[in-house]
Amino acid sequence: MRVVSFDTQEVNYLIVASEPYFVLRERDGQSLVTHDRCPHRGGPLHLGMWDSKTRSLRCPWHGTAFTHMALSRRAVPSVRTGAWLTVVLPVSPDSPVELSKRQVLANG
Ligand code: FES
Repeated sequence: MRVVSFDTQEVNYLIVASEPYFVLRERDGQSLVTHDRCPHRGGPLHLGMWDSKTRSLRCPWHGTAFTHMALSRRAVPSVRTGAWLTVVLPVSPDSPVELSKRQVLANG
């Protein structure tokens, strides 16, 4: 396992040993760090649209909706302290991790 901390005002996208994750901001102020590849055909979920009524994210490629519960199951463990998130990544401690900031349409 690799533990990484970052400021969510500066980082919202992680590439962990070639696997992409993004920070999905929840409306209650919490955050979820979830896998970015749609399980259908790998669409970029960070470019999907969030539906606050159904609390689901719609994939931009074929429109499959993923509930908050489904996204939570694909998320990595995380703890928030103010603007900082500490995440536990499912890789070895020496695995490469790239941190960046991207436009995450899912966050509006
Ligand atoms: S790739 Fe996401 S619904 Fe098809």
